[in-house]
Amino acid sequence: SVELRDLLLSRIRDVPDYPQPGVTFKDITPLLADPVAFNALVDALAGLCRRHAATKVVGLEARGFILAAPAAARAHLGFVPVRKAGKLPGETLGKTYDLEYGTAEIEVQTDAFAPDDRVLVIDDVLATGGTAEAALDLVRRAGATIAGVAVLLELEFLDGRARLAPALGGAPLEALITV
Ligand code: PRP
Ligand code: MG
Repeated sequence: SVELRDLLLSRIRDVPDYPQPGVTFKDITPLLADPVAFNALVDALAGLCRRHAATKVVGLEARGFILAAPAAARAHLGFVPVRKAGKLPGETLGKTYDLEYGTAEIEVQTDAFAPDDRVLVIDDVLATGGTAEAALDLVRRAGATIAGVAVLLELEFLDGRARLAPALGGAPLEALITV
């Protein structure tokens, strides 16, 4: 709703020139610190889990964890972490993706999903889409079905939505706020 969007947007702070000159950082800490806004956000994400018939929720380290884990619990679903490389024990699948400077790698445990799982991937921000795209590749290689991607905030000018489309394969990208 417009009310939810306005509440959430009012609690996201623009930090100019962070982490580098010319970049405006979207700081969600005021939202997390506000119990009314944070609860409304978790409710909305849990509602998306139900709408898209998810059976598991993936959160993307680090900021995605903060949103995905409570949303999963509220929707009575299990939570699966996609972590930066080298943090998960046992057998893992990895995916390297490009950052503005250099590359990063994320991983998921090979046995994280059952073959009939439908996975909603949750993160805080969709920027270039590189992180979410890599996560979708991991979920698919781990044998699950993509239920969709849900983010708090989509930065439209970076066109992550277009980049993500092939990896989504027709599954929805839900953004609670688009700026
Ligand atoms: C930020 C943000 C998203 C990602 C979006 O994470 O939390 O995960 O970037 O950017 P993209 O769409 O261009 O991939 P970051 O890698 O800064 O790490 P953090 O979540 O651990 O803070
Ligand atoms: Mg992140």
